[in-house]
Amino acid sequence: IYIWLLEIHFCALSGGASKIDVPCADGLKYIQNGENITLNCPFLSFDVMVTAWLKQTPGEKPLVIAYVYRSTTVKYYDGFHESGRFNALRGLSSFTLSISNAEPSDSATYYCVAADYTDTALLGCTVLVLKGWC
Ligand SMILES: *[C@@H]1O[C@H](CO)[C@@H](O)[C@H](O)[C@H]1NC(C)=O
Repeated sequence: IYIWLLEIHFCALSGGASKIDVPCADGLKYIQNGENITLNCPFLSFDVMVTAWLKQTPGEKPLVIAYVYRSTTVKYYDGFHESGRFNALRGLSSFTLSISNAEPSDSATYYCVAADYTDTALLGCTVLVLKGWC
């Protein structure tokens, strides 16, 4: 968890240095209420052991959505599996997160982190913004 927090901090810093006031602006996505979306997190190393998706809304601590060790069963946290709307899938070289029937509360920054024996990396972060909702 400490390593993940460090990575998130790094991401926030690099976003803050950008001219656009959105962290990870290249991953900015607008979605509609009720839409399905898949966030992909590809990785090159086949040594990757641990992958996880995290969600953070402004002013809140980041939450782990899903975690998987190698190709074992995906473990969900914080009730993310209860709605049935969040599904994570670990492939040979990717870890995808599908969100179905998007809700306003899904607006957040999503981070994918991966770690092998010696390193950890922030592989992607996407800012989801739900449109058409006041
Ligand atoms: C979204 O995914 C759900 C579950 O897979 C499916 O039932 C639904 O039809 C999909 N909705 C859209 C808008 O594609």
